[in-house]
Amino acid sequence: MSRIRLQGLTRRFGQVTAVDDVWLDVADGEFLVLLGPSGCGKSTLLRMIAGLLEPSGGRVLLDDADITHAPPQRRNLAMVFQGYALYPHLSVARNIGFPLRARRLPKAVVRAKVAEVAAMVELTGLLDRRPRELSGGQRQRVALARALVRDPGAFLMDEPLSNLDAKLRATTRAEIAALHRRLGATVVYVTHDQVEAMTMATRIVLLNEGRVEQTGTPAEVYDEPASVFVARFLGSPPMNLLDATLHAAGSDLVARAPDVEVALGLDGAGLPDRAVTLGVRPEHLGFAPRGNAPFRAEVMSVENLGGEEVAHCRVGSAQVSVRGARPLGVAPGDRVGLSARPGHLHLFDAGSGRRLVWRPAGVQATTV
Ligand SMILES: Nc1ncnc2c1ncn2[C@@H]1O[C@H](COP(=O)(O)OP(=O)(O)OP(=O)(O)O)[C@@H](O)[C@H]1O
Ligand SMILES: [Mg+2]
Repeated sequence: MSRIRLQGLTRRFGQVTAVDDVWLDVADGEFLVLLGPSGCGKSTLLRMIAGLLEPSGGRVLLDDADITHAPPQRRNLAMVFQGYALYPHLSVARNIGFPLRARRLPKAVVRAKVAEVAAMVELTGLLDRRPRELSGGQRQRVALARALVRDPGAFLMDEPLSNLDAKLRATTRAEIAALHRRLGATVVYVTHDQVEAMTMATRIVLLNEGRVEQTGTPAEVYDEPASVFVARFLGSPPMNLLDATLHAAGSDLVARAPDVEVALGLDGAGLPDRAVTLGVRPEHLGFAPRGNAPFRAEVMSVENLGGEEVAHCRVGSAQVSVRGARPLGVAPGDRVGLSARPGHLHLFDAGSGRRLVWRPAGVQATTV
């Protein structure tokens, strides 16, 4: 398996910069997920790695070779697309063996390799069928098998699960993750689905308008989002965000907003006031006696998710959701207090949206 390095990779389409100076190092055996909203440049980036699209600038390295301008068939990378792109008139076996026959390998070798890969993705009993005689999940596995059979340096996958139903998506997700662990394969996987990213990735790259917004393990990007953009993108419902002012009250640093006065557990003596965005995840808020609770809220509605409930509340003029085990024990119209542990509060710069971190010298914005 291989290591992939992107150095300043850029792609423009006329006035649009779809991918903007991306630097990434995908380690051997890593499952890297490119995550971001529609139009952020995920497919464009993957297609440049695959060699299907010429970069406007920058380089692509596979191990130590510069493959920026190499044709796709010379890259030893296998791409799995959203639509599977199976040949409808060929059997499953011939679909899987196609890349090997194209290389003119002996029939016996092709047959043995197809059987081996088919067993790996549990298609052994289906080798004589045509694609139209398969379910969506089985077709997906044929597409995977056709990529596997080539023994590529790395797999590139662009939303491979997007046309499966929810249940099949969950099982195929687990299959791909298990296959990755078993093969130790290098995978670059594109999705806009945060659940896929959180469950499959060893590392997530969040893209925003062609630029890398944050790179980290699923836990890192969820627990310490580098910006308001990342905080909003991950989590369901997403992180609650409130316009607030940081204010030094004695030696305590507090964040203030309408109906909010929350101590941050940090020493803020002498700091000037500063405009911030205060963030707290719905699952980190709990109900508390209203008296001197840090957040004073009115419950607007309660959603039943089965095992959990989400209460949608109003705090000042902001919307705040609270998620917890069902029943939450509140009803629309209730006036309640909310609290959170200081470690679960996030601060972002009001202007740049970047995460603020506490340093002895004061509160500083992180840089990318
Ligand atoms: N061939 C093209 N010509 C012109 N603009 C393009 C072309 N391909 C992509 N773009 C633009 O580049 C940007 C990134 O597109 P891209 O397909 O990479 O997004 P994406 O992140 O894969 O989105 P999605 O999640 O919807 O698939 C978009 O603004 C898109 O309109
Ligand atoms: Mg795309």
